[in-house]
Amino acid sequence: MTINRYILGIESSCDETSVSVVKDGTEILANIVLSQIESHKRFGGVVPEVASRHHVEGIIPTIEEALNTAGIQMEKIDAIAVTEGPGLIGALLVGINAAKALAFAYDKPLIPVNHIAGHIYANNLEEPLEFPLISLIVSGGHTELIYMKDHLDFEILGETRDDAVGEAYDKVARTIGLGYPGGPKVDALASEGQDTYDFPRVLLEKDTYDFSFSGLKSAVINKKHNLNQKGEDVNRANIARSFQDSVVEVLVGKAVRACEAYDVNHLIVAGGVASNRGLREQLTEACEIRDIKLSIPHPQLCTDNAAMIAAVGFYLFEAGVRADMSLNGRSSIDIEE
Ligand code: KG4
Ligand code: ZN
Repeated sequence: MTINRYILGIESSCDETSVSVVKDGTEILANIVLSQIESHKRFGGVVPEVASRHHVEGIIPTIEEALNTAGIQMEKIDAIAVTEGPGLIGALLVGINAAKALAFAYDKPLIPVNHIAGHIYANNLEEPLEFPLISLIVSGGHTELIYMKDHLDFEILGETRDDAVGEAYDKVARTIGLGYPGGPKVDALASEGQDTYDFPRVLLEKDTYDFSFSGLKSAVINKKHNLNQKGEDVNRANIARSFQDSVVEVLVGKAVRACEAYDVNHLIVAGGVASNRGLREQLTEACEIRDIKLSIPHPQLCTDNAAMIAAVGFYLFEAGVRADMSLNGRSSIDIEE
């Protein structure tokens, strides 16, 4: 008879305070997400100090709500998994200290989790990961292509050399006067426009899996300024569409090339930008043609949440990974470690 494992997950790396209870790395019993987006909107982006304060206010009620929703008591929890990094250091520390306090008070193992691994494992909550696989991570802080031969075995094939893709979306949104977070707004506007501006497809033809989005972002800003100076109309929908087509072509092109080069039939996508409609459509088409199985989690699991942290936590627990009370937050941390 197999024993069920219940992992309590805690995530506080950016602007979501989240606590979850996940059974055996696959089944969500509770996934409470307290978003701070409304609070950060007035600043046009996440303010680290403000984020930390919200985490402090939100963490205890969120833990209580997760346990209540799951209908489980701390005594039955097998381990506490918490995001160690990457992320905002002050924000991370709130979740880590709460996890340490619980681990100490209830004498439970403490498990450090990489946030990016969490994004990948969001897929495991919908369907078991099939190895080998390629994972495309597209979020506000990260753009990475990762090869996995097995559970917890991560090889970074490429990453962004400058801005993350979500970050570029948010900056372009600001340039054309859309609010924060801009990604979903650019995405919606893009569906009304045409690719008329023909922005560069940076690094697409180059022999690398790395990405670069800051040049594209500058191209958009320059185009808008040039049009303004000449007194010509800026067609915002066309700007949004042209930008999005450039981003999507590069992401899809590299992801598919990695699948072919590594002889992989399973591509999984993760991170906030995985909700992007243009990206979903183009990936679906490209994978269908090549007989690659494509998995993209439900949008609620694409953005930051603690269920994905508990999912990784389960496999780390089984592998015997433990942290002690000296666990500290790490703003940057390598998934290959
Ligand atoms: O994964 P996530 O919730 O947080 C990080 O860990 O970074 O990603 C948030 C990012 C933001 O930059 C947001 O603008 C972007 O994901 N985003 C989108 C869409 N929905 C969210 N970008 C493009 N299209 C979308 N539909
Ligand atoms: Zn994230």
